[in-house]
Amino acid sequence: MLDQIDKLRQEALAAIAAVEDLKSLEELRVRLTGRKSAMRSLLASIGSLPVEERPEGGKVVGALQKQIESALDDCTERLTQTPETNAGIDVTLPGRRHFEGKLHPLTRLADEVVDILRSIGFVVADGPEIEDEYHNFDALNTPVDHPARDLHDTFYLTDGRLLRTHTSTVQIRVMETTKPPIRVLSQGRCYRRETMDATHHFAFHQIEGLFVDHGVSMADLKGTLTLIGRRLLGDRTRIRIRPHFFPFTEPSVEYDFSCTLCGEDGKASPACRVCKGTGWIEIGGAGMVDPAVFESVGYDPEEYSGFAFGLGVERMAMIRHGIDDVRLFLENDLRFTRQF
Ligand code: FA5
Repeated sequence: MLDQIDKLRQEALAAIAAVEDLKSLEELRVRLTGRKSAMRSLLASIGSLPVEERPEGGKVVGALQKQIESALDDCTERLTQTPETNAGIDVTLPGRRHFEGKLHPLTRLADEVVDILRSIGFVVADGPEIEDEYHNFDALNTPVDHPARDLHDTFYLTDGRLLRTHTSTVQIRVMETTKPPIRVLSQGRCYRRETMDATHHFAFHQIEGLFVDHGVSMADLKGTLTLIGRRLLGDRTRIRIRPHFFPFTEPSVEYDFSCTLCGEDGKASPACRVCKGTGWIEIGGAGMVDPAVFESVGYDPEEYSGFAFGLGVERMAMIRHGIDDVRLFLENDLRFTRQF
């Protein structure tokens, strides 16, 4: 019987090794392990062995059965893992296109403003998006009962901190740790509890500039803002400054860039989707640093003067690309972002 088993093993393993397709393998499986197979006859013959030989016979035939079944399984694996179907990938399917990643239009624009400011000596400073009330309000001359706080309602954390409403917080953080002269810029995300519309989002981006030295004037501020506008949007860009109020600057202004979408002659078009026919689009706020702010950081307001400004990145991107709804920038709809 042992000879018979050995012969069967050799024949079966050789036949399995020679199989080249799944159909032949299935036929071989039936021939080797099916009801009419030699192995089944062997298993059946164990019952006719003398009682004392039956356990040993069962063991030997069982081992053979296991060996053949495992060789059949290995063969199935070998035949289903040809190069064409390796790891379940069907290389005959059409390929998937990979899209090249690009910088978001807001990132690109912010990078350009940063480059412009660096070219005239500003250095980059950073500050946290999760701020304390002191840096967002109090140190900027906006105490808790100041009406200007209502315009900057925001999201509060349970520990009393808040999501910053503007990048002006970084002015304070820089002045607290640095002596004049100072020429810094800071950029990043800001948050406000706003009712969203085409020009207001609850999350948006600002770039802040701060220049403190002896004899800094409003003319320096206007020159800096004009430079930014013209380098970004072209030499025909004009800047308009309007009186405004911020608790941390005196005098304070809001400034607009002329809408460069409204035609070469600079005249406003009533049909313009971005400026709505006014010819101007509000970009940000600015002013001369209030003496009270200098005092809160230990600077002598008699000795130093300075200007500060905040730019809305989305608003500038709206003029540049002719976009009439700020919400599009943060929706992450690829049909929108792929256009840039
Ligand atoms: C400020 O945030 C002041 N910190 C700016 C400043 C800096 C004044 C330094 C003086 C000195 P204001 O709230 O106006 O100002 O915002 C400035 C700009 O940010 C706006 O002109 C606008 O372009 C942009 N902005 C403000 N709120 C939103 C909003 N909800 N969605 C999109 N852009 C916004």
